[in-house]
Amino acid sequence: MNLEDIEREIRSCKRCDLWKFKTNYVSGEGNPNARIVFVGEAPGREEDIQGRPFVGRAGRYLTEVLSRFGLDRRDVYITNVLKCRPPNNRDPTPEEIKACKPYLMKQLEIIKPDVIVCLGRFSSSTILSEFGIDFKGISRDRGKVFEVEKWGKRIHLIPTYHPAAVLRNRSLSDYFERDVKTALDILKRRRKTLLDFI
Ligand code: URA
Repeated sequence: MNLEDIEREIRSCKRCDLWKFKTNYVSGEGNPNARIVFVGEAPGREEDIQGRPFVGRAGRYLTEVLSRFGLDRRDVYITNVLKCRPPNNRDPTPEEIKACKPYLMKQLEIIKPDVIVCLGRFSSSTILSEFGIDFKGISRDRGKVFEVEKWGKRIHLIPTYHPAAVLRNRSLSDYFERDVKTALDILKRRRKTLLDFI
């Protein structure tokens, strides 16, 4: 199974009612061999229209932060916990998360990234709990690096604020950008370790 197979499954999904309200399914995009994956909450208005993740205001900010650190968004993989937009951007319900989560977990299993950056509380609580970690809230856990063994390798999970929250409260931007840098520093360190073996 590859990412296209999952996308095909998503495009006929009726596991919850959100498909009735959406314009497009938003499965995810980027490099299928990415070593880092960014996981948001759910598509917003612009994402629903375009069928692509993080292309609205919050997405432009995320893209800009990545490029400030020398990364093109096509280098990474970007997706969400929910693949359909909740009406009026309301919070995802626990039932919707439960129904949609298997798609995210399959995407992660195929990519097998070294680092997963969880954008916001819904993404952080969903992913951390999936890896057996108790999420204590975004302000307490953001910026922490959780190391887990999965898919036969070591994975780093980093919860941080959602880019939309940063746009609403600019005082969070230093934390957010520091957390993205932490994630990229881990990648650089891991690359060095790998090269040392060669
Ligand atoms: N917010 C999200 O959580 N995901 C998107 O794709 C866009 C905005």
